[in-house]
Amino acid sequence: KVLILDFGSQVTQLIARRVREAHVYCEIHPNDVSDEFIRSYAPKAIILSGSHASTYEDHELRAPQAVWDIGVPVLGICYGMQTMAVQLGGKVEWSDHREFGYAEVRAHGHTRLLDGIQDHATLEGHGMLKVWMSHGDKVTVLPPGFKLLASTPSCPIAGMANEEKGYYAVQFHPEVTHTLKGQAILERFVLGIAGCKGDWIMGDYIAEAVARIREQVGDEEVILGLSGGVDSSVAAALIHRAIGDQLTCVFVDHGLLRLNEGDMVMEMFEGKLHAKVIRVQAEELFLGQLAGVTDPEKKRKIIGGLFVDVFKEEAAKLKAAGAGHKGEHGSRAVKGATFLAQGTIYPDVVESGGTKTKKATTIKSHHNVGGLPEQLGLKLLEPLRELFKDEVRELGVALGLPPEMVYRHPFPGPGLGVRILGEVKKEYADLLRRADAIFIEELRNTKDEATGKTWYELTSQAFTVFLPVKSVGVMGDGRTYDYVVALRAVQTSDFMTADWAELPYSLLKRCSGRIINEVRGINRVTYDVSSKPPATIEWE
Ligand code: XMP
Repeated sequence: KVLILDFGSQVTQLIARRVREAHVYCEIHPNDVSDEFIRSYAPKAIILSGSHASTYEDHELRAPQAVWDIGVPVLGICYGMQTMAVQLGGKVEWSDHREFGYAEVRAHGHTRLLDGIQDHATLEGHGMLKVWMSHGDKVTVLPPGFKLLASTPSCPIAGMANEEKGYYAVQFHPEVTHTLKGQAILERFVLGIAGCKGDWIMGDYIAEAVARIREQVGDEEVILGLSGGVDSSVAAALIHRAIGDQLTCVFVDHGLLRLNEGDMVMEMFEGKLHAKVIRVQAEELFLGQLAGVTDPEKKRKIIGGLFVDVFKEEAAKLKAAGAGHKGEHGSRAVKGATFLAQGTIYPDVVESGGTKTKKATTIKSHHNVGGLPEQLGLKLLEPLRELFKDEVRELGVALGLPPEMVYRHPFPGPGLGVRILGEVKKEYADLLRRADAIFIEELRNTKDEATGKTWYELTSQAFTVFLPVKSVGVMGDGRTYDYVVALRAVQTSDFMTADWAELPYSLLKRCSGRIINEVRGINRVTYDVSSKPPATIEWE
């Protein structure tokens, strides 16, 4: 396994992603872990990450001494290269002038890291690489024993190596896709130089994870909040595989789910997997509390708060020994839950426990269930903590969940509550559900000829928004005065920024035709052509 030490770069997670893509297991830990930690972790290789924007306060960040003492290959990236230089006797010139963007570096000599990896070659036969740079400081004197690996006109030492020790460093960022050969370089390091096997696959992972869950849980009971989303579903399937009936899923149906979604969740988990699922029908409660509320933030707070209340109530019942569900699901007596399982995934872990403090304004308050385990007096079980989203999906499929479920677009916790603008009413939710189902069905059924992929696959998120305004229309000989919906489809890799998707007109035409014809009560369909920023993906 590979250890990544995080100096606080925004893109450290991407290093881990790329290493995992090479089927090598890795973990990110803060740069100031102890020497004992590093020794006992016993990595096969260490990668030192970059650091974030301002440099001055960060000059002092260093890698623990053990990094240099345990005799494994080390790769320094950006700031990681600078700290390597400083710690091993070279020099760095600190500056607050940043160089940022594409650059072309020239490879020097034949190093194991870059040999044979190039985008093109110069007439003299030097390998050239198109890379992404983002730095102000630079190494000006190589540490003893190091040779030059790469350079650019403005950064004469853009890479360095001490091949005898297996130390390599680059000033550019191989982890971002702008560096075209970045994946090849990282693979060369972990597979070639460090000799990792590249055998991290999901099938093996299941057996390992199942064993770990069994060991952690013993004969105790676990509860899990099932939402139908990817993470909680995969967590449920995995835990169920490990401990069967010792798991009880609580599915809070707030009435703001998509068409037939609640039934599908039940059919999958109760019907097919034979898991214990308690479906709490809470539509009336949620819609009751939402009546008359139009402010988006208030709506989010109400939905999030109620969700936690309802879940807590169910959890408390289950915690109290022998809660009345034993007869229903066979003979096993329920002893009272002591574990709360959550579908926390790796990006959540890194974001909340990362090495940096984040100052961000709240654009939208998301569901926050942090603190629940303490309030309930339950221990936490988070079996997906070390997986990235696409690994979670792969795991889901390996566990037998249907790919359509596992590869679904994300759906916000407050559900249709934020897709019905202003006041939420059952009438609106019912209209929206039907219109949205048509839109999604058409996206799933329409292929793009150029790529052979469906438009559902070609978009990152697509949905319908209900606008509580009425417009005049004509149907047959009659006048209509009905509601309007907006279709929204975006393409994005990170959901932080997004472009509206250029869906084919013919597809949009079919959707509007079907929605207006099939959903009585809607007589106008619009398409949202706003990107994020300045718009957000959801409308509220
Ligand atoms: P926005 O609308 O902020 O959304 O551009 C970015 C992504 O986050 C999803 N989203 C949520 N997810 N709980 C969630 O779990 C929420 O409260 C929530 N609000 C927005 C949104 O669907 C999009 O994928």
